Amino acid sequence: MEIKIKRSHCEELQEYNVDLENVTLLTLLNHIKTKIDPTLTYSHGCRSGICGSCAVRVNGREQLMCEYKPSDGDTVEPIRYATVIRDLVVDSSRVEKFNRTGLAWSETSREENISEEEMERIQTQSDCILCTSCASACPVYAVNPYFIGPFALTRVWRYVNDPREISSDAKIAAVQTNGIWDCTLCGECVPVCPQNIAPAQDIRMLRSKSGMMGYNDPTMNFGGGLDFGAPIF
Ligand code: FES
Repeated sequence: MEIKIKRSHCEELQEYNVDLENVTLLTLLNHIKTKIDPTLTYSHGCRSGICGSCAVRVNGREQLMCEYKPSDGDTVEPIRYATVIRDLVVDSSRVEKFNRTGLAWSETSREENISEEEMERIQTQSDCILCTSCASACPVYAVNPYFIGPFALTRVWRYVNDPREISSDAKIAAVQTNGIWDCTLCGECVPVCPQNIAPAQDIRMLRSKSGMMGYNDPTMNFGGGLDFGAPIF
């Protein structure tokens, strides 16, 4: 099988011929690194679709290396809109930056039990493994690098939708700029999620909740220009 990989030290794709079939991309890269080219650099952890550290783009579509089975002629690149550290390894600090901007965590929760039905309502979003495939597929980053983005907004909805959370109002306020209204609802984030989460739908829910709290889509404010707010980097 021939596979082409984007390396950080050259413009051209590097081709490797590997005599392996029906293996994951991670197994194939491990073979290349141990038998052919020890300089090839990529990241992985759990090898079972849990840690989210092995996301790359294959033929222009985000995949987890530990789950994707490559085919002859595949092209592998790092995920988009993240600084490449080396080859297929990108700077993952944006995960913390975007989660921090959106207050995408449980800050203070009421000490109360949660029903099974309420737990089910937040289970899907709780399954996010922060692989950032959704952010790589999101076209908004091409025009707004400060966009809080799909994975962080999904996590915001997870906590806003949790009846134990007492800081929901602050979270809704935090996603008004560079957040829910910047999303085009194109849905590119949905099919690339390995956990079957639909961030675009969660963003719709955040918009609805925002509307109920008196917020409006700022792009409907005729006469104003685009305002990306303060940089978070
Ligand atoms: Fe952990 Fe792939 S190595 S998700």
